[in-house]
Amino acid sequence: MEFFDTHSHYNDEKFEEDREDILNKIYEDGITKAVVVGDNIVNSKATIELAKKYDFLFCAVGIHPCEIGETQEEIDNQILEIEKIANYEKNIAIGEIGLDYYWEKDLGKRALQKYAFLEQIKLANKLNLPIIIHSRDAIMDTIDILKGEIRPNNKGILHCCQLNKDLVKTGIDTGFYISFAGPITFKNSKNAEEIIKMVPKEKILIETDAPYLSPEPNRGKRNDSRNLIYTATKIAEVKGTTLEKIAKITYENAKKIYNIKL
Ligand code: NI
Repeated sequence: MEFFDTHSHYNDEKFEEDREDILNKIYEDGITKAVVVGDNIVNSKATIELAKKYDFLFCAVGIHPCEIGETQEEIDNQILEIEKIANYEKNIAIGEIGLDYYWEKDLGKRALQKYAFLEQIKLANKLNLPIIIHSRDAIMDTIDILKGEIRPNNKGILHCCQLNKDLVKTGIDTGFYISFAGPITFKNSKNAEEIIKMVPKEKILIETDAPYLSPEPNRGKRNDSRNLIYTATKIAEVKGTTLEKIAKITYENAKKIYNIKL
């Protein structure tokens, strides 16, 4: 069985000590493709270095809502830097970008998050790339942007999707893919099953968000792609199908959204 981890952060410092070892292990364990996602300029550059070093890794570059500058001008400069590196051949998306109102309570800063989000959607449209959306405690504004005037041409992914029916429905209606992560396996994740049922098989992706969000039974420990199997198993159970079939369809879906031919 082969798996595609559509969202990971092997550029994170939590992998400083044993990055090479872990990357070799996950590949041997059947994770034969993974996307390493950036959330600021420095670690977006780091994901490119990883994709250069490892055939099975691809990268996404972008500015996360918690990493944006203090002014529009600072944000414009950040996005210019992202544009400079985004044309690397194994860069397959702009991400992660979006809104995070859980960590940002200040209304002025939230307005800047929206600005950075929209400007990066424009960049993705210009470069003909999909986007990877991070949305936390910002459901209404995320929906507004997906339905708004500046919207992604090339579709995208709701990453580690918050288990909210309205957001998922808007995502599906907009042609987006829904990426499930470890939290669907948590015992207190009440509506996970309902949401999994809502998403057609051809729109489902699986991800770790490693080193974060380890699924049960490894909740709380550092995550890596070998844990994808727990997330995929949960989806297979809810969809009434086999783990093999979920591995295969999510692999094909990921290749499609990221436009990976091999
Ligand atoms: Ni992430």
